[in-house]
Amino acid sequence: MRTRILKVNPRRPELQKIREAAKMIKRGSIVAFPTETVYGLGANALDSKAVRKIFVAKGRPSDNPLIVHIYDKSDLARLAVDVPKIMDRISEKFWPGPLTVVLRKTKIVPKITTGGLDTVAVRMPSNLIARSLIREAGTPIAAPSANYFGRPSPTAAEHVLEDMNGRIGLVIDGGRTRIGIESTVIDLTSNIPILLRPGGVSIEQLQKEIGRVVIHPLLRGKKSRAAHRSPGMKYKHYTPNAQVILVEGQSGKVRKKIIRLAGKLKKQGKRVGVVCMSKARYNAHAVRVVGPSYEKFAASLFGTFREFDLKKIDVILVQAIPKKGIGFGIMNRLEKAASTKIKAD
Ligand code: TXA
Ligand code: MG
Repeated sequence: MRTRILKVNPRRPELQKIREAAKMIKRGSIVAFPTETVYGLGANALDSKAVRKIFVAKGRPSDNPLIVHIYDKSDLARLAVDVPKIMDRISEKFWPGPLTVVLRKTKIVPKITTGGLDTVAVRMPSNLIARSLIREAGTPIAAPSANYFGRPSPTAAEHVLEDMNGRIGLVIDGGRTRIGIESTVIDLTSNIPILLRPGGVSIEQLQKEIGRVVIHPLLRGKKSRAAHRSPGMKYKHYTPNAQVILVEGQSGKVRKKIIRLAGKLKKQGKRVGVVCMSKARYNAHAVRVVGPSYEKFAASLFGTFREFDLKKIDVILVQAIPKKGIGFGIMNRLEKAASTKIKAD
């Protein structure tokens, strides 16, 4: 299969082009498209045969459910039942945007879309290309991140091509994604909302708007029998080819530790990459300063992993940050990617 790239203006998506892509979705094909978080690999969420193609193209295990993307709040009623009252406030404050809610599904949502679960994950994206694509397709679009299974999520069309060239028919190129890590996922099927994946919306923002939110024990490094709640949690993710080492501690000490480690690894003949919040003489083969804000860090994280892979880096030394705001989402991705965590002292 030849993969075509369709360049679309992210600020004013050309309707003709969007309709062309929407037609493919309607016909049961899969299309990669940008959202404000990462690129998604989309299919008609209500068409099992189309959704199956996503799992094949991605090499994704079939028990890992997809997120269903909607155009308007009113689309939720077709997909979910027993929607709690709190959903009104959630959609008012966070939709469209990087927040996904897990609810009990209706019959029209095929089991393949939900990985066999009775629940469905729903999100209303804010990216204009994503929005017009869903509108023109006239159906909710199921879309996981458009990376090959286990690889870092794509934040640019080139990243999608790296993993999916020849595996899908079309990529809509809408430039770099703004947020850079995936949406926050909360489960609304129990009395108190449970955070399943930290992401674009911070837990502080959620707590401010809807009160109590429980953090799933697996996110705090605890073993839990409730792991089945979000099958995605059990998989190792977001991994570049390089080995990732996370360095924790006070900024100045981390810098020194990274400089020492980089020197040592280079002596062993390793190609070393550094990802850090501030500049220093790291003396590595590749250095990426991702600060000063956590938002900037999030926006460049996955792209940096991919760039370092292209530069054949063997080991990436990454500065750990506090799990505050979007920092929680960043650290969640880093901890999944890292093989080792060390303390700088
Ligand atoms: O930002 C995002 O959410 C991106 C863009 C494309 O929208 N999508 C994305 O999809 O990250 P994916 O498939 O890579 O991650 C979906 C996550 C997985 O961890 C999955 O286990 C969880 O959502 N999930 C989906 N349906 C679920 C359900 N019914 N119950 C619990 N967790 C669910
Ligand atoms: Mg993913």
